[in-house]
Amino acid sequence: MRLAIDSYRALAEPAGLSEDVTLHEAAPLRAFGAWLENARGAARPQRPEQELLAEHHLMQAVLGAMEEESRRLLGGQPLRPEFWRGAVEFIGNFSHRVHRLKEEQILFPALEAWGLLEAEACERLRDDHEALKDLTWLLCDGVHDGEWEKVFRSVATYTGRMRVHLEAEEGGLLAPGLANVGAERMDPLSDGFARLEAETLGAGGRLRFLEISRSLCLDVGIALPEAGLAPRASSGLGNTLRVH
Ligand SMILES: [Fe+2]
Ligand SMILES: [Fe+2]
Repeated sequence: MRLAIDSYRALAEPAGLSEDVTLHEAAPLRAFGAWLENARGAARPQRPEQELLAEHHLMQAVLGAMEEESRRLLGGQPLRPEFWRGAVEFIGNFSHRVHRLKEEQILFPALEAWGLLEAEACERLRDDHEALKDLTWLLCDGVHDGEWEKVFRSVATYTGRMRVHLEAEEGGLLAPGLANVGAERMDPLSDGFARLEAETLGAGGRLRFLEISRSLCLDVGIALPEAGLAPRASSGLGNTLRVH
């Protein structure tokens, strides 16, 4: 259900959201604003669940680009390995490596220890991660073999399963589950996330994956990840991040 802008204006304004964003979309996008500033070195404090929500927003943008490109395949357009190389770079080295490890190594164990995540639910989320990894390999095979149907099938399955997974995490964990957990418990998670990023992001840090996501979206003509964030005169985004 899409809600009128007036119903959440007060919520949206402090985060600098533009007025064409619905409440449904607002939480991950709000979180993405701070994540983006940190990607540019702003050192703005962000709670760990907000950091993960922001990453979900970035991942959703890439899912949208993958779906758009796979629709072109279905319409008879040629397989473009360069597009899929970027997509695999993002979902393999960011979604699977950085984001997944934050959850599996840091968030899930903490939630289980605090009694906020049942072992069975945790296992389901880990199973999703593993299945998504396997689908990424299938996609790699399809691109390598030049088989557009294999690419199309693996992308359709990947994006469908990932969207359900993201919704499960957002609905069951990140938003309601952690909102009332105090800083004394959450701050160590943030420290763990920062250590893990230092080990896994590689050269270019967050900006590298941001740029990959943007170029994928630009390539297929869909909204950029920062669409919906109000432009900030002092954002310091420079040449790397022009708001379109
Ligand atoms: Fe996950
Ligand atoms: Fe996640």
